[in-house]
Amino acid sequence: MDKKECPIGVFDSGMGGISVLKELYEVMPNEDYIYFGDSKNAPYGTKTLDEVRRFTFLNVERLLRQGAKGIVVACNTATAAAVRSLRQMYPQLPLVGIEPALKPAALQPGHPTVLVMATPMTIRGDKFRRLRMQYEAQADIIGLPCPGLMDFVESGNTGGDDLKQFLTGLLSPYIGNIDSIVLGCTHYSFLRRLVAQLAGGQVRIFDGGSGTASEMRRRLMEAGLRSARKSPGTVCFQNSLQAEEEIELSRALFQKYEPEFRINNK
Ligand code: DGL
Repeated sequence: MDKKECPIGVFDSGMGGISVLKELYEVMPNEDYIYFGDSKNAPYGTKTLDEVRRFTFLNVERLLRQGAKGIVVACNTATAAAVRSLRQMYPQLPLVGIEPALKPAALQPGHPTVLVMATPMTIRGDKFRRLRMQYEAQADIIGLPCPGLMDFVESGNTGGDDLKQFLTGLLSPYIGNIDSIVLGCTHYSFLRRLVAQLAGGQVRIFDGGSGTASEMRRRLMEAGLRSARKSPGTVCFQNSLQAEEEIELSRALFQKYEPEFRINNK
C-alpha cells in the first residue's frame, strides 16, 4: 500500500484525545485515522512517570504495527512523560505531541493572569516547568492540578450536576482573578463550555487541539505523506477495555465535539 494512504495513529489514556482527533479530521478530512483509547490504564495523570512511559511506548508500537504513517500523542500527560524519548526512538516518523496552550494565553495584552488546568503529572513535570519559565515575564501563571476531573468525561459525563459541583469547587478560588484558562488535558476540552460558563464571559479559554492538528498536517506535508484522496476518510476506534460501550461512547464524543478550529473560523 502507498504509504501516503496509510492511517494516522492517534492515542490518549482514554476518551480525551477524541477532541484532538476531531480537530485533525477538521483540517485533514480525507485522511484515515485509528484512534486508540487506553481506558483500561486511565487515568495516566495520577500514575508514576515510569508507568506512563511504558503505556505510551506500547500505544505507539500498537499503532505502528497497524501501519500508521504518523502518530499524534493526544495526551498532554503522555507527551510530557515520553515525547522526547519517542523522538529518539523514531527519528523519521512524523510524531506530534500536545502541550498546554500557554503561549497564546500568556501573550494576550496586559500581563494576564492565566490558570492552567492539567493533570498532576503534567503540572509537576519538567516540560511544564520549562514552558512556564518561558512565559513568566509576560503573564502570571497558576498551575492547577485537577485529579479526578478526567473521570467525568471518561464516563461520558460532560454536563451533569455532580460534574458542575466538582468544577465549581476547583475554580471558585480563582473566579474574578483570572483572565484566561488553559485546558491542559485533552479530556477537559469537552468541558470548554461549562468551564467558560463557570468562569464568566470575560475569561478566554485556550486548548492545544487545533494547534496540534495543524502541526501534524504540516509535518505530513513536509514528509510527502498527505493522502491524495478526494473522498472523506474513515475513523476506526479502538479501546484497551475492548467493550462495545467504550467504542459507542468514543463515536458519540467524536460526533458531539465542536472543534475550536470551526468555532474560531465561523
Ligand atoms: N487526556 C490526558 C491529558 O491530556 C490525561 C488524562 C489522564 O489520563 O489523567 O493529559
